[in-house]
Amino acid sequence: MEKNVKSIILAAGKGTRMKSETPKVLHKIFNKELLGYVLDEVNKTGEISENFVIVGHKAEEVEKFVENHYENAKCLLQSPQLGTGHAAFQAYEDLKGFEGEVIILNGDIPLLTTGTLKKFIENHRKNNAALTVLSAIFENPQNYGRIIRDENGNLSAIVEEKDATPEQKAVNEINTGVYLLDWAKVSPAFLNLDSNNAQGEYYLTDIVKWTISNGLKAQSFILEDNTESFGINSKAQLAQAAKILKNRVINRLLEDGVTIVDPETTYISPDTEIAPDVIIYPCTYIEGKNKIGKDCKIGPFARLRGGVELGEGVKIGNFVEIKNSKIKNHTNVSHLSYVGDSELGSNVNIGAGTITANYNHATKEKFCTKINDGASTGSNSVLVAPVELGENASIGAGTVVSKDIPAFALGLTRAPLKIFADWFKKSK
Ligand code: UD1
Ligand code: CA
Repeated sequence: MEKNVKSIILAAGKGTRMKSETPKVLHKIFNKELLGYVLDEVNKTGEISENFVIVGHKAEEVEKFVENHYENAKCLLQSPQLGTGHAAFQAYEDLKGFEGEVIILNGDIPLLTTGTLKKFIENHRKNNAALTVLSAIFENPQNYGRIIRDENGNLSAIVEEKDATPEQKAVNEINTGVYLLDWAKVSPAFLNLDSNNAQGEYYLTDIVKWTISNGLKAQSFILEDNTESFGINSKAQLAQAAKILKNRVINRLLEDGVTIVDPETTYISPDTEIAPDVIIYPCTYIEGKNKIGKDCKIGPFARLRGGVELGEGVKIGNFVEIKNSKIKNHTNVSHLSYVGDSELGSNVNIGAGTITANYNHATKEKFCTKINDGASTGSNSVLVAPVELGENASIGAGTVVSKDIPAFALGLTRAPLKIFADWFKKSK
């Protein structure tokens, strides 16, 4: 299928209520930026050829994030920031002559899913709409634009709360701020926006009225799960969104056959794949992108920090931290260890308190550790990377490994133990 949808993601706003030096859209849930969630979910529809991210407040930081992570995204600067309509208009030049559809959405809605976006796009096409607004129903909506319908139930306008009459305020269908436009037809609306409203801003929502008054079809598509429209404006909302996301992930995993002993104290990022019959013990924290094979046991009190791939029957025990490492079948890392930038073979046994020393603080470089099949480490040993333990090699307790250990060899660094007989008798 040819990709013929482009997105405009609004991310220029200040996010004053976050009370932070960090731009709002770069705040994180499970160590992933809010804007990252939006870009990933949009890209996963498989329809997007290009994303435009509208930046303004702390533009350089947001640009750097986008450039480092997304090849198909381009940042456009909005300065000054004159409202959501003015923000989306920043992509007007880049979209000149574009014949496809454009999805416009806010950069601070991390809970919106690909599944919903797909249904939304499908509905827009099925109904031959020129403009579709994603709406949601809330019992007692606050601060949202209201979806206004005519006597036949058709969408007629979106009215901001600050501009709304009491009757309009009573409407419980709201604008989520996600729109799909047939660009060739609806884009002239951007040349006709004005700022004659309570906030003196160019409202993106006014494209609805323009579309209808130009004889084109505008409609709304109602969100099934209204938590997907949850926008982040404060630290409290950031924490709430993290909780919603965490519960969503845990419910999905439970349904897929993963055993989670204590869902309350378990945190698993949405980008972690876990096979059935894995057991996750309490107080485990898993962030980033990871893959966990069947019959693994994780925790209690374990932390996976991303880039972790576990084969089958791997055991990660208490107070173990794993980052960016591949671990093959039936290997145990049972207690008090750090494994980073490593490759562990199968049937490896990592003794309690083993550390892979992967980071040179002076040069800021990271190095890899390789531990081959059947090898083992004694308790309290340090592997100073880059270093390799051969197949079935072993290192004794307390060893500092700074050279490769060949297969089947024993490595040992140990000061001789001295015993002073009757030492304490003398002193008494
Ligand atoms: C907007 C909608 C409202 C909807 C709500 C959903 C308008 C006029 N109103 O209101 O109907 O219910 O979103 O959350 O569109 N931004 C810019 N540049 C600007 C202004 C805003 O990039 O000049 C960005 C913000 O960073 C934010 C998004 O646009 O990501 C929404 O802006 P915000 O001011 O929060 O809009 P709302 O008043 O919430
Ligand atoms: Ca908002």
